[in-house]
This record gives sequence, C-alpha cells and structure tokens, in this order.
Amino acid sequence: MKTLVVYSSQTNNTKKLAEAAAEELGSEMIPVSEAGNLSGYDRIAVGFWLKGGGPDPATQEFLPKLTEKQVFFFATHGAAANSAHAKNGLSKAGELATGATVVGSFSCPGEVSAKVQAAVAEKNPKAPWLPDAPAATGHPDANDLALLRQTIRTAFPR
Ligand SMILES: Cc1cc2nc3c(=O)[nH]c(=O)nc-3n(C[C@H](O)[C@H](O)[C@H](O)COP(=O)(O)O)c2cc1C
Repeated sequence: MKTLVVYSSQTNNTKKLAEAAAEELGSEMIPVSEAGNLSGYDRIAVGFWLKGGGPDPATQEFLPKLTEKQVFFFATHGAAANSAHAKNGLSKAGELATGATVVGSFSCPGEVSAKVQAAVAEKNPKAPWLPDAPAATGHPDANDLALLRQTIRTAFPR
C-alpha cells in the first residue's frame, strides 16, 4: 500500500498537520499545486483549510481526481473543533471526492491572524466561524498533532 500526503496551506497551519501525518505514515508529502500523476498511490491523505465553509479552492479542484483511492481528510479552520461548521466543511470535501473511499478524517482549529479576523469582521453576512477564531490562536498545538497521528494511523493501518 503506497501512501501520499497532499496538502494545501496558506499560513502553515495545515502544513503542520501534513508534516505530522507524513512522519507518522512514513510517506512523502507534496503541496496540492504539485500533485500530478497519482497512479502509483493507493492511499492519499488530503489536507486543506476551510474557506467559505468548504475546502479551499485549490483542494476543491483536486478532490475529483481521487477516484478509486482510499482517502483520509485532515483540515484546519477558524471554527471550533467538532463544530457543525467544521463537520460540514469536511462533508463538502467528501461530496467533491466522487468515486473515492473516505476512510477517516480529522480537523482542528488553525490560528487566524488578527488582520484576517478584522477583515472578515467587516463582511456581511457575518462569517459563522468568526466568534470561534480567537480561540484558534496557538493551534494546531502538540495535542492536535498527537490526535491526528492516532486517527490517521487507525484509518491507514500498517
Ligand atoms: C480568506 C479566508 C477565509 C476563511 N474562511 C474560513 C471558513 O469559512 N471557515 C473557517 O472555519 N475558517 C475559515 N478561515 C480560517 C482558516 O481556515 C484557518 O486559519 C486555517 O487554519 C488556515 O490554514 P493554513 O494556515 O493552512 O492556510 C478562513 C481564512 C481566510 C484567510
């Protein structure tokens, strides 16, 4: 079983998860912009950040390419851990990965800069995740990374 970690990350929160996942699985990791031919891989761990309540745009474009793969999703977001907003964002990824078998997922908060929070606060309608964003400061933390490792190892056993 050959495994690859593909991730999208603007401010490195999701990249931290990708690094932990790749280390745990002993696999390569590549940014989504460099993900080309996937034919040599059976299992793909896909990491993304939430934008507009769904996977970021680069990931949205990538997800339909995962036909016939075993897929594990990991994500970061300004919304609280296990919030409906976060769960919904992960479900949207599943809907876009038509023909893939989703074997598990993990998500956790990812720090949102004060500048982004201020810019988002100006928008109408109000972003539902914004009130949670201050608590995302410092995430992903060591605990988040440990939980991801455990979850992905169960989904992609040796
Ligand atoms: C333009 C923009 C839109 C965002 N939209 C959402 C969103 O819809 N829901 C959410 O929970 N977080 C949202 N966030 C917060 C990011 O998902 C979060 O900070 C994430 O950890 C960023 O990941 P990265 O560091 O890997 O780029 C948004 C952030 C930005 C900059």
